[in-house]
Amino acid sequence: MSEPKLRWAIVGTGHIARKFASDLRWSKTGTLAAVGSRRAERAKEFAAAMGGVEITGDETATVLERRDIDAVYVATPNPDHAKSAIAALQAGKPVLIEKPAAVSAAEAQVIHEAAKDANLLAMEAMWILFTPGIVRLREMLREGRIGAVRSFTASLSYGRPHIAGDKLFDPASGGVLRDLGVYPVALAQNLLGSPDEVSGLTSRLDNGSIRQASLSLRFGEAMASIACGFEAEGPNTATIAATRGYVSTKGSLLCPPALAFKSKSPPAPYTPAEEKPVAPLHKPSRLPWFSNARKIASAYREKLIMTSFQGSGLQYQADHFAAYLRRGAAQSPIHPLAATAAVLQTIETVSGR
Ligand SMILES: NC(=O)c1ccc[n+]([C@@H]2O[C@H](COP(=O)([O-])OP(=O)(O)OC[C@H]3O[C@@H](n4cnc5c(N)ncnc54)[C@H](OP(=O)(O)O)[C@@H]3O)[C@@H](O)[C@H]2O)c1
Repeated sequence: MSEPKLRWAIVGTGHIARKFASDLRWSKTGTLAAVGSRRAERAKEFAAAMGGVEITGDETATVLERRDIDAVYVATPNPDHAKSAIAALQAGKPVLIEKPAAVSAAEAQVIHEAAKDANLLAMEAMWILFTPGIVRLREMLREGRIGAVRSFTASLSYGRPHIAGDKLFDPASGGVLRDLGVYPVALAQNLLGSPDEVSGLTSRLDNGSIRQASLSLRFGEAMASIACGFEAEGPNTATIAATRGYVSTKGSLLCPPALAFKSKSPPAPYTPAEEKPVAPLHKPSRLPWFSNARKIASAYREKLIMTSFQGSGLQYQADHFAAYLRRGAAQSPIHPLAATAAVLQTIETVSGR
């Protein structure tokens, strides 16, 4: 018999709340049951707009008290995440918290303590780590398909006009590192572990908020180069280069529809120079254009791995969360709160707070 679906409540009725609600329709394990707002009226409007799904809307505190809610997704602005997440945990609900789960590494630690006190699962909604393309990429690195990683390159930037008063440009809780930089940094640290060294450059608006940043991270012998910005439309891809080949996201690194992959065969066993036969001189080819064309074609012999997904891909994190909640896990093995704090620590090293 199939298990009953996990009944989710969303806190917040904004942009990402709507996208999550829409993507939950693709979830194998969860269903949306309720939405909470600062104003019951707004939550009722949200619920009414969710055609085809039975959900109710109410004030957040009322929703958190409901016994038929199994898990809570916090989709409020960054400075409110800790407060809403801790309220959910204290009401006995496991919680999935929008990124960045906290505005600082220290605040992430406070949420972690609250989760331990409540003995409940809490996880940052770092959805990219659970999209099919990124799951496949992580498997390929684990299987050693391209050898030992030496370089990670990623960028995430969108041309977004600066609007005075917009929370994205609030120097205390926003800025491009917390809004966009968290994704490639989380991906690099998820694939490569804890960085040994972190440095970076930032460009700021007059109010002190970071609008563009570049980061350099060293993980043993691997180096990561990450860029993020609010002013340019970037390719928003990631490439991991290793001793035998590379793998790149085709399309956005957030939820790539395909991966490009190229790998050399393992090197031939080493033969000392004195034992090698003397190579004959090449005869000049009668068709030089043909041999060059073959070389050019081989340079493009990348394999394309399709990694299709449904909706916009936010449901995969919800399915991962449900799987570990059912196992009684205190933390996600892929993205524990300690990893959230470590990403914020990297960001703080670069942003200077
Ligand atoms: N995963 C992604 O791809 C992605 C994309 C965009 C944003 N995000 C993250 O999602 C979070 C929300 O972003 P958003 O773009 O959805 O924001 P938004 O459109 O402004 O929505 C935030 C919602 O939170 C509620 N809220 C609670 N306390 C609030 C407060 N003090 N001030 C304002 N609103 C408050 C509001 O709903 P009520 O009025 O009903 O209470 C509001 O609609 C952010 O942390 C952001 O980083 C993630």
